[in-house]
This record gives sequence, structure tokens and C-alpha cells, in this order.
Amino acid sequence: MNTQTGIPVVTIDGPSGVGKGTISLRVAEQIGWHILDSGSLYRLTALKAKQSGISPENEDKIAELARNLSVEYRQQGDSLQILLDGEVVGDTIRTEEIGNLASQIAAIPTVREALLQRQRDFARPPGLVADGRDMGTVVFPEAGAKIFLTASAEERAKRRYKQLIEKGIDANLHDLVIELTERDERDAKRRVAPLVAADDAVTIDTTQLTIDEVTEQVMQLLRARYRF
Ligand code: DC
Repeated sequence: MNTQTGIPVVTIDGPSGVGKGTISLRVAEQIGWHILDSGSLYRLTALKAKQSGISPENEDKIAELARNLSVEYRQQGDSLQILLDGEVVGDTIRTEEIGNLASQIAAIPTVREALLQRQRDFARPPGLVADGRDMGTVVFPEAGAKIFLTASAEERAKRRYKQLIEKGIDANLHDLVIELTERDERDAKRRVAPLVAADDAVTIDTTQLTIDEVTEQVMQLLRARYRF
């Protein structure tokens, strides 16, 4: 089954630090499809809010920022370069501070509304791999393949810790477990588009799996559904 536009979409949803980003990029590279890192749109809005000194309580102003984001994505193999107002953002949007701020503003309905069509516009031939929290439930309910990744909070915190340290970003494992759990709760309990597996999603528990093993499981699913 395809999207309403006839362009095939694969959705990969799940909680923070589950490895969605890495898996999505690898899968997209293997099958030659476009990628949507939907979390980056919320993170970019959060970064803009921080830079402009706008508090997350100022919902109208935050929604305006989301509506007017000037973003460009450059997909290079299994990495993604993001430009905000023409400047490469790099890891400035990957900090825990921006992640938490993104989670707060992602609960604002007008922000989600402002970003909805922008996300759907990523669906271009030959197809799209979309990663986020509500890809299979709200943004692409007609997607042909839906995957929901899970892992224990401890394992996800460990992975995030390793990632941050490798990038030279200071981190504390204990704080990360608490922050990830808080963020998941906020993402899962919000009124609009909460973090939840779509009824027709296939769930993969990645706690005991390597990135290669998860990628292979996703690829097996896709091979069964499409002719790769
Ligand atoms: O996937 P991520 O960690 O980059 O996402 C950052 C935050 O953005 C996440 O905590 C909640 C929000 N988000 C969302 O609400 N919906 C999405 N589809 C993607 C991210």
C-alpha cells in the first residue's frame, strides 16, 4: 500500500535514543529512498526559540517560528547535513538541552500543525523513509510499511551516552536515564500525536540487538513487502 500521493513510505517510530536515526539512514541508503528526520524539525524550532529568547510557554511565537523555518536537507550516503537559514547546524541541535526543549514545544498543537505539510512534502519518488514519533499514526497513516522500535530506558541511555561522548559532548549516564524517561513520558502522554505504535506497525525490541541486526530485520520486512 502507498501514500495518498502514490509514493511509497516506510515509517520508523519509537522513543528517544532507540536508534531510529541511524537505522533509518542505513535503510534509506540501502534502498535508495529519501529520508525524513522529523525530530530535527522540532529540534530546529527549539534551537531558533532558544536563539531568539522565546520561552516554550509563548505558543503563538513558537508556532510562528515553526511555520517560517528556513531549512535545507542534504542526504549524503548514510549521513544527513542540515542547514538552517543557510548555515550548517551540525551537532548544535543534538544536545540534551535542545532535545528536551524540542519535546516541550512538540506538545504544542499549533507547532505540530505548522510542521505537518512540510513533513508530508518529503515524500518524493522513488520513496521515503520517515523517522519520528507519529510518522505511522498521523503524518503518514497510509504508509506501506510501519516499524516501531523499542529498547529499555537503560540501554537507550547507554547508547545516547556513547554517542554524546564520541561527539565530544559532556554527558552523565544517570542523568540521561532520568531525562530520557521524562522525555518519553511527555512524548507519550501529550494530547496531540502522542508517541504510540500504529495498530498496523511491526514492533522490534532492539535491547539485545546490534545496529546491523536491526537494519537487517527491517530490510527483511521491506524485502517481503517491496521488490528490493
Ligand atoms: O527524535 P528526536 O530525539 O530528534 O526528537 C526530538 C523531540 O521532538 C522528541 O522528544 C519529541 C519531538 N518529536 C515529535 O514530537 N514528533 C516527531 N515525529 C519527532 C520528534
